[in-house]
Amino acid sequence: MQTPWIIGNWKMNGRIDRNIALINAFKTFRLPEKVHIGIASSYPYIHQLYTELQETSIWVGAEDCSQFYDDGAYTGEVSANMLADCGAKFVIIGHSERRTYFSENNDLLKIKLQNALSAGLLPIFCVGETLQERESGQEEKVIASQLAILRDFADASMIVAYEPVWAIGTGKVAEPEQIQAMHQFMNEEILSITGKRDKIPLLYGGSVNADNASIILKTSCVDGALVGGASLKADVFMRIITAATE
Ligand code: 13P
Repeated sequence: MQTPWIIGNWKMNGRIDRNIALINAFKTFRLPEKVHIGIASSYPYIHQLYTELQETSIWVGAEDCSQFYDDGAYTGEVSANMLADCGAKFVIIGHSERRTYFSENNDLLKIKLQNALSAGLLPIFCVGETLQERESGQEEKVIASQLAILRDFADASMIVAYEPVWAIGTGKVAEPEQIQAMHQFMNEEILSITGKRDKIPLLYGGSVNADNASIILKTSCVDGALVGGASLKADVFMRIITAATE
């Protein structure tokens, strides 16, 4: 079995003092060696997290990066190179909140993936269908169209996260059968799109918490979890990490 991944996505949360308190709480736990652990934070805190977590095995990442690669006159933008410079090791690309609120589409996400890879960051590429798409039986079609951009990244190291939009922040977690069926579909789809034999780790995200983590992480074709709200509580996040070792 591959080493599982547990990645926290803090979204637009955090303050310097609160981050310190959370990190200090993490540091009191003995982190398992056989789990890849990461925290994605808002841009201003990446370097703080990098500095504070340097002695631990926890990777720091970003939640997005700019479509622009080279330095230049792009007011307000943060490039993938800057993120790497600040200590980020990975970056979430194509989260549904970015697709929804910032109209991010395949053309843009292709550029962002390329930028992340060029800067040496590990992309965590997110896909997911809305409730309406699932209820109308379109979920595989939607996921296949989101995954289509991987055609240009056949040899790239990356992670893919399945986050059904209807399960994000709603407390409505997908059933293990739904997760397993979709992850199996995604494995087959990625193989057919890229012709790639190396397995891309597939994470599940959407209302993962300390109570459901164990069953989700034991579901076949699930290589880890992308955790939103529950990653903001040290003891809960730690219980999810522990569930990955079982
Ligand atoms: P929640 O765990 O809060 O549902 O968020 C999931 C998510 O969007 C992680 O990227």
